[in-house]
Amino acid sequence: MIEVKNIRKGFGDKIVIDDVSAVMEAGKCNLIIGSSGSGKTVFMKCLVGLFKPDSGHIIYHGDDFTAMDDKQRKEIRKEIGMLFQGSALFDSLTVEQNVMFPLDMFTDWTLAEKKQRVNEVLKRVELVDTNKKFPSEISGGMKKRVGIARAIVLNPKYLFCDEPNSGLDPQTSLVIDKLIKELTLEFNITTVINTHDMNSVMEIGDKIMYMYKGKKEWEGTNKEIIFSKNQRLNEFIFASEFLRDAKDMRMLEQAGKIDENRNMDDMIK
Ligand SMILES: Nc1ncnc2c1ncn2[C@@H]1O[C@H](COP(=O)(O)OP(=O)(O)OP(=O)(O)O)[C@@H](O)[C@H]1O
Ligand SMILES: [Mg+2]
Repeated sequence: MIEVKNIRKGFGDKIVIDDVSAVMEAGKCNLIIGSSGSGKTVFMKCLVGLFKPDSGHIIYHGDDFTAMDDKQRKEIRKEIGMLFQGSALFDSLTVEQNVMFPLDMFTDWTLAEKKQRVNEVLKRVELVDTNKKFPSEISGGMKKRVGIARAIVLNPKYLFCDEPNSGLDPQTSLVIDKLIKELTLEFNITTVINTHDMNSVMEIGDKIMYMYKGKKEWEGTNKEIIFSKNQRLNEFIFASEFLRDAKDMRMLEQAGKIDENRNMDDMIK
């Protein structure tokens, strides 16, 4: 579990994260949604220690990350896996070398031990015969899998995924979402995901936080989001007219004003 208490972060005189508090739960996909520029990436980078918040606290399983010395912080970092926006693989390294990288950094295992672990995680993300390939030789969906394999190779307690579906088609996105969800449950990971993909929200959003201009505007579950009365959130999720109409119909149906057995064509007439 991660507890975030009143964090603020600015660049110059521009406030980007404005007094945000949240609880990210273990064994759940904790989603952060919001339009481009709302602060999702900066927020995530504060959580993993890539940015230092100007104030506030980030508490990993009871320990205050913001108050730790470098040595303690390194211990927490070992427990963090991160899938960056755009995968961020090393182009000059093979798939195997990319996935092995955290093991080179944080363990003193032998090469044989490292290779065995790399093969285990590549198998888990269903990548076969790709060990010796370079990132330029594999598809976007495969690159995400390599990114996920690298993020989980050290058995993290915390997994951060920044836009895991960016650039993927809807079907491949769903496969990646399901993989992240399965891993979260399988290893009881506290998973934090930044996304603007509404399919992901509905599919894996155990807990959702909506950010608007650096502030937390709303939070709830994927069951609650459809019926939220928050106007800004609704403008964000029902950006398409089709979805807005579908929501109105669903509300009417729930209120008993539409007979669900009636023909759809009758309703449209
Ligand atoms: N290193 C930086 N220096 C100055 N400003 C920054 C820096 N990083 C981000 N920002 C600003 O912080 C704001 C939030 O950016 P952020 O990347 O967190 O948005 P986001 O919600 O992740 O957007 P997207 O959905 O496009 O990824 C933006 O206005 C951005 O310009
Ligand atoms: Mg971002």
